[in-house]
Amino acid sequence: MKTAADFYKPLAIGAPAPWRELPIVLERTIHFFPPHIEKMCAKVPAMVKQVDVLLGNLEDAIPIEAKEAARAGFIKVAKEVDFGATGLWTRVNALNSPWGLDDILQIVESVGDKLDVLMIPKVEGPWDIHYVDQLLAQLEAKYNVRKPILIHAILETAQGVKNVNEIAQASPRMHGMSLGPADLAASRGMKTTRVGGGHPFYGVLADPRTDGGERAFFQQDLWHYTVARMVDACMANGLKAFYGPFGDFDDSDACKAQFRNAFLQGCVGTWTLHPKQIEIAKDVFSPEVKEVLFAKRILEAMPDGSGAVLIDGKMQDDATWKQANVIVKLAKLVASKDPERAAAYGF
Ligand code: GLV
Ligand code: MG
Repeated sequence: MKTAADFYKPLAIGAPAPWRELPIVLERTIHFFPPHIEKMCAKVPAMVKQVDVLLGNLEDAIPIEAKEAARAGFIKVAKEVDFGATGLWTRVNALNSPWGLDDILQIVESVGDKLDVLMIPKVEGPWDIHYVDQLLAQLEAKYNVRKPILIHAILETAQGVKNVNEIAQASPRMHGMSLGPADLAASRGMKTTRVGGGHPFYGVLADPRTDGGERAFFQQDLWHYTVARMVDACMANGLKAFYGPFGDFDDSDACKAQFRNAFLQGCVGTWTLHPKQIEIAKDVFSPEVKEVLFAKRILEAMPDGSGAVLIDGKMQDDATWKQANVIVKLAKLVASKDPERAAAYGF
């Protein structure tokens, strides 16, 4: 265990000092693009204004024969496009794959000063984060990268879930985590071929009816437990939690329901793999207008956050004041980027 005094020291001479707190940025949508496909790269400049984060995916879904083209394509896009306030992330190949090391080496060398976050898949424990942390510090020092690159872990192995808190605490470079329901399902031996979302067989059956009629079946959220663990580990350590992929592009309603569960549980954003998921994500991960207006009323009624008041028959106290603050803080962040929502929230 590192001492508290050492925790924030740069890991290489000449590397920038780690962030002490995460930069405050809106990250509702992490939009994935495949950088080996020129047509998709050509769309990136137009997408910059539509999403909060653009992520060049180098890992799963990129064919083996296109791995190097994807890396080169990402570097080209990162160099050429002005991302403004939109985040630039990449998902590199796993640390035990033949490409992970070269992904990190070449990307930091070429575009380390533009990259905000490095997404690391299949993280199993703090040792994976320590390795990337040290390597990034060496590369930042070598290539004179002045802004520390953050690490985002995908929670997608049984061992990773077991070690989720240690992963969150592994480095001041930790940005957050995303749920990886496809790999996680495989790693855990879950019996589903779906990428995120519910399963029609996972639920509870109501008690038998006295009239012998059909018993109601209530489908449950397969991912509830994991999202909750991820949110607790992230929030307890000052990081951000994200939902991951939702693979059924034709089922926008189920996608929305899954995103909404994650949002309500504490996640701040999600991956979007298809353009039609972008508006769903922006909608879900921006607080509801009604909630924001009510939260503002709580703050107005309790200027110093203490005591108790009744608003529309609902009890408000120090704790609900804190809840209201979470919503209003997020609404202000959304408003700073989204004039339409700013007007609806009354900012
Ligand atoms: C994402 O990477 C997943 O495995 O679901
Ligand atoms: Mg995965």
